[in-house]
Amino acid sequence: MARTAKGNPQTMVAVIGAGQIGGAAAQVLHESGRYRVVVADPKLEVLHRLATLGVDGAIDNATAVRQADLVVFAVKPNVAVDTVRRLRRELKGKPVISFAAAITVDALRRVAPEAELVRAMPNVALVVKDSFTGYSIAPGIGDRARALAERVLREFGEIALVDENLLDAVTGLSGSGPAYAAIFIEALAYAGLKVGLPRDVAMRSAARTLEGAAKLVLDANIHPAQVKEMVVTPGGTTIMGIYHIEESGIRSSVMRAVDAATERCTEITASLNRGAASVSK
Ligand SMILES: NC(=O)c1ccc[n+]([C@@H]2O[C@H](COP(=O)([O-])OP(=O)(O)OC[C@H]3O[C@@H](n4cnc5c(N)ncnc54)[C@H](OP(=O)(O)O)[C@@H]3O)[C@@H](O)[C@H]2O)c1
Repeated sequence: MARTAKGNPQTMVAVIGAGQIGGAAAQVLHESGRYRVVVADPKLEVLHRLATLGVDGAIDNATAVRQADLVVFAVKPNVAVDTVRRLRRELKGKPVISFAAAITVDALRRVAPEAELVRAMPNVALVVKDSFTGYSIAPGIGDRARALAERVLREFGEIALVDENLLDAVTGLSGSGPAYAAIFIEALAYAGLKVGLPRDVAMRSAARTLEGAAKLVLDANIHPAQVKEMVVTPGGTTIMGIYHIEESGIRSSVMRAVDAATERCTEITASLNRGAASVSK
């Protein structure tokens, strides 16, 4: 643990790969005031942007990792195993969170056997600290490493420990899910335009309506079927709307979408980890 000017112990986190997810993770951790963050990324403009926010940049991955109490890998899946392999000595005994979709704990353990590994699948709402993040932990991980990794993941939103074999399903649902929800928001906003609402009212009412319905489920613990019942009146407006939504087969199309995304993730997992096994030999 490093010490700040105020003398408070602060956990030092290295983020390797500061693109969409890594850059946002670095920013969220830095802004919390609970972590010192150092990022490493080949793109200088990315490092400069983060530096203007007060996030340190490192000249290379090894320099960043050496300073860190915990390391977050947010590089693309096709380079994740090789990036971890090159740092195996520096990662010895350190908690490591990998965000790389489809790269198994086993593939990472083969190349960095002494790292304390956690595999996590956040979603893009991490940018606003509202991710749903499924994660799984390597067998034998130490209690301190696990607690620190969970503390860091909680900074990004809600977390759920799942068996690793369910992470492809997490990817298919909450990993890809913001895109599905965005389509629904866009459709509602367009519908608002069709019935004459001004653009900003249409967009904000669409997004807020989804947020409000989600809060009824999450905060007030009301089942979605009950939320629906709370709005529907016999012969009223909502039942007319629901009639048309049900006719479109929306439920089965959403189920097929998550099924297809999960299956695609499983295919990618199989091909990338086959590659990783041969790289590690
Ligand atoms: N985006 C999402 O919604 C999401 C959600 C969950 C999980 N993930 C996972 O998060 C990871 C990052 O995704 P992303 O969307 O943030 O990708 P991204 O925007 O492409 O960011 C990856 C960054 O890592 C840099 N990089 C490449 N090789 C590196 C290396 N060896 N060392 C350090 N940095 C390196 C890249 O630089 P160059 O571009 O110059 O190569 C890029 O800036 C992926 O594994 C993805 O599966 C993403």
